[in-house]
Amino acid sequence: MEEINVFLFKNQILSKIQYLEQLKFNSNDEFYNITNIQSQFLSTYIKLKSPKKVLEFGTSNGYSLLAIVLGILKNIEDFQTGKFDVNNNYNIFELSELHSILNSIQCVSVEIDENRFNFATQRVFNDINLPFVVDILNIDMFNFHSFTLEKNNYLNFDVIFVDCNQERYEEVLEYIIDNTLLSISGSIIFENVLSHKHSFNFISQIKNTQVSVKNFKFKNIEFDLIEYPIHNGFLELKRKT
Ligand SMILES: C[S@@+](CC[C@H](N)C(=O)[O-])C[C@H]1O[C@@H](n2cnc3c(N)ncnc32)[C@H](O)[C@@H]1O
Repeated sequence: MEEINVFLFKNQILSKIQYLEQLKFNSNDEFYNITNIQSQFLSTYIKLKSPKKVLEFGTSNGYSLLAIVLGILKNIEDFQTGKFDVNNNYNIFELSELHSILNSIQCVSVEIDENRFNFATQRVFNDINLPFVVDILNIDMFNFHSFTLEKNNYLNFDVIFVDCNQERYEEVLEYIIDNTLLSISGSIIFENVLSHKHSFNFISQIKNTQVSVKNFKFKNIEFDLIEYPIHNGFLELKRKT
């Protein structure tokens, strides 16, 4: 069974992050990426949450997707380093365990704009051969469910990162719930909740910029609302089981 060099993948992802940051520094920002600090937050969040299935709405050039993938790799790295024996080998049973974890990981990102999709697939993720599924789809997010219907495992995501259609966040939430896109204990992270705060009724419960937890009910599903006031602001809707 093949050994997996997570360190190598991590380096590849870090150099792509650096490449996009350099590009942004040298040109006008036409990709509307999250900031560097938000990217670090996102990868740490993913590492700690250790989701098997992650869905992103709004890939752009793939910058935030790199952060998500980095978080998954850091989590795998932790699993690996905990499994070495005294001779610095990990045994075949644990290697098969690692392979089965990798086989269960699925990362899907959706982008409506063809140019941005082409950039993400042809200039960012083109030469990285990750040991788990990373799919980027060039579709309207509101067609995600019908488009992936035959792949019936494209349901029940543990983390959904929403970074488009800010003015339609309630509709997005409804779409996620109605199409069973969120797992039973999953979380949705909405970006830009501070800059677009006025646009959403459902987060009008947020009254200050401190990290706080509040209850929220939508279509009979209960969530904890957690706000992370980092730059444009992340809002986590954490489903209560
Ligand atoms: C703010 S940018 C995403 C930035 C990206 N998450 C990052 O930080 O690197 C929003 C992206 O969502 C895309 N978008 C807008 N409406 C969409 C829709 N209905 N379905 C899929 N993508 C959409 C836009 O083309 C744009 O590239």
